[in-house]
Amino acid sequence: MAKPFYITTPLYYVNASPHIGHSYTTVAADCLARFHRLRGDEVFLLTGTDEHGQKIEQAAAASGRTPQVFADEVVERFKALWGLLAISYDDFIRTTQERHVRVVQACLKTLEARGQLRHATYQGWYCTPCETFWTDAELTEGAACPSCQRAVERVAEDGWSLPLRPAQEWLRGFLRERPDWIQPAARFNEVQSLLERPLPEALCITRPRQRVNWGIPVPFSEGHVTYVWFDALLNYISAPGFGTEPARFARLWPADVHLIGKDILRHHAVYWPIILHALGLSDHEMPRMIVAHGWWKIGEQKMSKSRGNIVDPSVVVRELLHGQPYAADAYRYFLLREVPFGQDGAFSEEAILGRLQADLANDLGNLVHRTLSMLERYTAGKIPPAPAVGCAVEDEPIRQQALALPAQLDTALQELRFSQALEAVFRLVGDANRYIESQAPWQLAKAARGSDAASARRLEGVLWLLAETLRVVAIALEPFMPKVSAAMWRQLGFGSAPRRLSDLTVWPGCPAQQRVELAEVLFPKPEGSSR
Ligand code: MSP
Repeated sequence: MAKPFYITTPLYYVNASPHIGHSYTTVAADCLARFHRLRGDEVFLLTGTDEHGQKIEQAAAASGRTPQVFADEVVERFKALWGLLAISYDDFIRTTQERHVRVVQACLKTLEARGQLRHATYQGWYCTPCETFWTDAELTEGAACPSCQRAVERVAEDGWSLPLRPAQEWLRGFLRERPDWIQPAARFNEVQSLLERPLPEALCITRPRQRVNWGIPVPFSEGHVTYVWFDALLNYISAPGFGTEPARFARLWPADVHLIGKDILRHHAVYWPIILHALGLSDHEMPRMIVAHGWWKIGEQKMSKSRGNIVDPSVVVRELLHGQPYAADAYRYFLLREVPFGQDGAFSEEAILGRLQADLANDLGNLVHRTLSMLERYTAGKIPPAPAVGCAVEDEPIRQQALALPAQLDTALQELRFSQALEAVFRLVGDANRYIESQAPWQLAKAARGSDAASARRLEGVLWLLAETLRVVAIALEPFMPKVSAAMWRQLGFGSAPRRLSDLTVWPGCPAQQRVELAEVLFPKPEGSSR
């Protein structure tokens, strides 16, 4: 049996509610998961929450709750948002779950037993918002965190570390052999140049209890809890059952794609492979690809809680897009279309409303509504049969474009170029709208009423081609806008029949005389709007 396509998102910290940055990684992962399911692949999409560490301990204390109660509350907000955005995850792991704690402790014991850990005093700098240690050499001017530029605190504490340098040469060699391992290429280069200089001696993987109490107890050292990043990264193997469900683990591992933001590249592309290597998971069991996307910014600034410029996705969906029956899909579309994956993007209300109006209402919504209305009016709501003589010359470009779509989607999504995939779908949508203008079915209908048989035949041919185009667009949009896709599918008369990528190459694919359903406008104009 083929290995399921295993996709991960980062585990989100539960110190605060989810924002659009979190939703971006998750929507992208969901889109990829849905695309693979549409292809017929079995998929395992894993997401979850990162619940230990100093920053959650502090956030819980500030709210007067225990860390566990606090985490339980925030987790519900993440889950509710994933429900709202139709995230089709297969598993949701919380690092406070017993199934995870057990694996982390077993891994610590393994590393200790393999002689991989050093017990020593660690001296360095700690950034609590990033939950990351830095060495003197890594600090930027003014003792700021090199990642988020916030103040760091000096730490000198005894603990257990995983030496990094002995694995550095191995990792360099691994990257030389796998130049596609980290996407986009700029991120690969970043990691490669990081590895050209000596890495910090070691990664401290514990924290003394007197400083941080909220963590997984270290089984061989009562005074310590596990460092939150070591704990969290292991979720990628604890969820599929490393050490606890060997058969399931063997089937799922390695992860096919780790989707992350560029802020946590070093943790995933340097620490994580070194941890796996130290655990004795051999090279061919390394994750297959790491893809790091850019940041959503507000103006010039990265969105973050401490800067107070957080955008809450549920407010965007429920308030900004109020009155839109497919608001969550419109939001998904915006995230995936607006910025090429990997680059930074600017979030603004104008930008999302602009996309809604131009791409979704004027292009897609219009095409669907016009086509269904004309089918209703001119062919009694039934999809005409494919023309006996085949496609007319004027129809060829649209047909060719529709048939080229599966390969275009495949290429773009293999490389996680979501915006490029959507551009291809919307080129077809735009051309189909222009086709309506150039073929002017209303004039053909007029001539047909005057008993012109050729016009009557041609009218049917035009409407048939438009119905076929909508069928293709509905399938292609499933990973991006699952509810819109399902609505289009229903309106075309396919009911709840499954959508499959392979049906894109079936042409024609609409059963003749299938009854369509003229239903709601997919993207209505906001009330009182003149746009
Ligand atoms: N808990 C760690 C990850 C552990 S993974 C084993 C963590 N959590 S986080 O909640 O701070 O953020 C995780 C991810 O959220 C980032 O990597 C990125 O995917 C996403 N984003 C957070 N802010 C973002 C933006 N402003 N823009 C885009 N995505 C960003 O780090």
